[in-house]
Amino acid sequence: MIVKQAEIRDIPAVLELLQANHVNNVKDRSNGFVTTNMTEGQLAALIERENGVTIAKEDERVLAFAMAGSWDYWAEWPFFAYMIEQLPKFSFEGKVLTVEGSYQYGPVCIDESVRGTGVFEKVFYASLASMRARYPVMATFINHVNPRSFAAHTRKVAMTHVGDFQFNGNNYYLMACPTDLGSV
Ligand SMILES: CC(C)(COP(=O)(O)OP(=O)(O)OC[C@H]1O[C@@H](n2cnc3c(N)ncnc32)[C@H](O)[C@@H]1OP(=O)(O)O)[C@@H](O)C(=O)NCCC(=O)NCCS
Repeated sequence: MIVKQAEIRDIPAVLELLQANHVNNVKDRSNGFVTTNMTEGQLAALIERENGVTIAKEDERVLAFAMAGSWDYWAEWPFFAYMIEQLPKFSFEGKVLTVEGSYQYGPVCIDESVRGTGVFEKVFYASLASMRARYPVMATFINHVNPRSFAAHTRKVAMTHVGDFQFNGNNYYLMACPTDLGSV
């Protein structure tokens, strides 16, 4: 298995994994789900403009991905436009979160066959390292009803819960970490 930044030719396999984990298609939500939908064009833009898709690949199969992009990139999704408005209400390590000083990580998906094997940590840290030169801080959200994702992001990697917000009747944790987390 290799962990690398995705190329355009990886798009169909990434979308397949995203769809398999989308809330509309997941039967047992206790093992996690993603709510962000992405088109082929949006994924291509994330790869080409932001180099923002980290994948774990075995042969031609994509076993995991983590997305990462500037707030400017994510702003076209109403949910992220709302998060951008909320950001200044939250601080991390004594500094107010800003769109210039942070980026948005996620969605992240690990194929069921490799959950709990350390692939999550590898893809997480590779994604973080890929944005380190551009941003000091990473931020993301986790739905309160996705305890597996909260456990992974706090116990398997050391993200910090900085606050909570609501959107469309759902409750979310706002999470952050420095981009040099885990680096030597
Ligand atoms: C969330 C996800 C990325 C985590 O990766 P993972 O490889 O499954 O993570 P791990 O299994 O190493 O760690 C998860 C931890 O949560 C625990 N856990 C599992 N189900 C749980 C639940 N319902 N409630 C609380 N904790 C739970 C696991 O036991 C494990 O902790 P442990 O190893 O200390 O026992 C992965 O499960 C996934 O892709 N899920 C579907 C998509 C998703 O939810 N993405 C995140 C939101 S964008």
